[in-house]
Amino acid sequence: MADDGYVLVTGGAGYIGSHTVLELLNAGYKVVVVDNLVNSSEEAIRRVEQLAGNVHVPFFNTDIRDYDGLDKIFTQYKVSAVLHFAGLKAVGESVQKPLEYHDNNVAGTITLLKVMRAHGSNVFVFSSSATVYGDATRFENMIPIPEECPTDPTSPYGHTKLIIEEILRDVAGSNDAQIKVGILRYFNPIGAHPSGRIGEDPRGIPNNLLPFVAQVAVGRREKLQVFGNDYDSRDGTPIRDYIHVVDLAKGHLAAVKKLNSITQPAFSREWNLGTGNGSTVFEIVHAFEKATNKPIPVEVVGRRKGDVVNLTAKPSRANTELDWHAQLTIDDSCRDLWKWATANPWGYGEQPDK
Ligand code: NAD
Ligand code: UFG
Repeated sequence: MADDGYVLVTGGAGYIGSHTVLELLNAGYKVVVVDNLVNSSEEAIRRVEQLAGNVHVPFFNTDIRDYDGLDKIFTQYKVSAVLHFAGLKAVGESVQKPLEYHDNNVAGTITLLKVMRAHGSNVFVFSSSATVYGDATRFENMIPIPEECPTDPTSPYGHTKLIIEEILRDVAGSNDAQIKVGILRYFNPIGAHPSGRIGEDPRGIPNNLLPFVAQVAVGRREKLQVFGNDYDSRDGTPIRDYIHVVDLAKGHLAAVKKLNSITQPAFSREWNLGTGNGSTVFEIVHAFEKATNKPIPVEVVGRRKGDVVNLTAKPSRANTELDWHAQLTIDDSCRDLWKWATANPWGYGEQPDK
């Protein structure tokens, strides 16, 4: 349960952030959101407020690199914990714009940590990614992937995640800021809230599998391109550990609870958030077809640069230490994604060129 402070959620208008804000409100936490809306819409916050029973969520359109802007918010609200989702996340774009990615993600996190230090705010949960592991099949016996697997990200985006992890371990290990840190390495979040009111609303052409499939199903795109069927897997397509976004959101509450219970000042810990089950691209496409009764036309094309064959989590550390388990299935995710996509075929926005 909540103590008397606020949980400050950066990137709270985004896909995973908005679902987490809702779970926090449902559990009785007070929440304040900071998001510069570079990849999201304030409408997500309005809908979260409605879903939570018309609870008001203070929202600030502020960039996390803006020290003074953050400082004002921390002065106005007593922040007992920070959940840090804000960041740029498109792998391909990060190759084109590495400086923007390092500036936004790394410099932004440093600014946020400095403001936390100035205000004595000492619980920090970070959105890291399974992408920090790189190709875990370069070792024997590393699938499913444990947190001990050596890291080796393959894109500027992945580098920002690993650099931030290192900064956080340094900060947690010093007496300077006394911040307790939870590093959550997400596998592949999918689905939407079962209400169909909030979900993923990518700008432009979706990079990720499920948003693309959903746009094919609603008629916004003609077919799915499958990036390679010559991998060493049961049907030749890569394997991922797809996790329902609501399960993922609940993992953050478990992490906050755990960090609040830690009495030692210098604490940091990595936790994988995944299901432990891997699915291929074709298996996901078939699950979506089954959930929606809609055929998804596919075309197999060449491999996408940087893709690895298998990212399946070993989630046992989070299962035991956070007392958290993913509970929803791929079928649940497909059903909920479909509800969101059919109710909001243009996401939070309007259909262009009507
Ligand atoms: P998202 O783009 O929907 O949400 C990120 C939010 O951060 C957006 O609302 C965006 O407007 C905001 N933001 C970006 N830069 C900002 C800045 N400088 N100041 C303030 N706000 C800023 O993405 P998401 O899928 O919800 O991802 C959330 C976090 O989880 C990200 O850090 C991402 O890297 C990480 N992650 C995502 C996935 C995934 O597959 N979705 C996987 C692993 C890790
Ligand atoms: N895929 C296609 N066609 C598409 C999109 C994806 O075949 O149009 C395939 C990819 O090749 C991959 C699988 O679907 O085999 C999943 O691809 P996504 O882009 O949905 O997800 P990734 O595993 O590549 O990456 C995602 C996030 C990363 C995060 C990683 C963690 O985008 O930020 O999950 O596992 F780091």
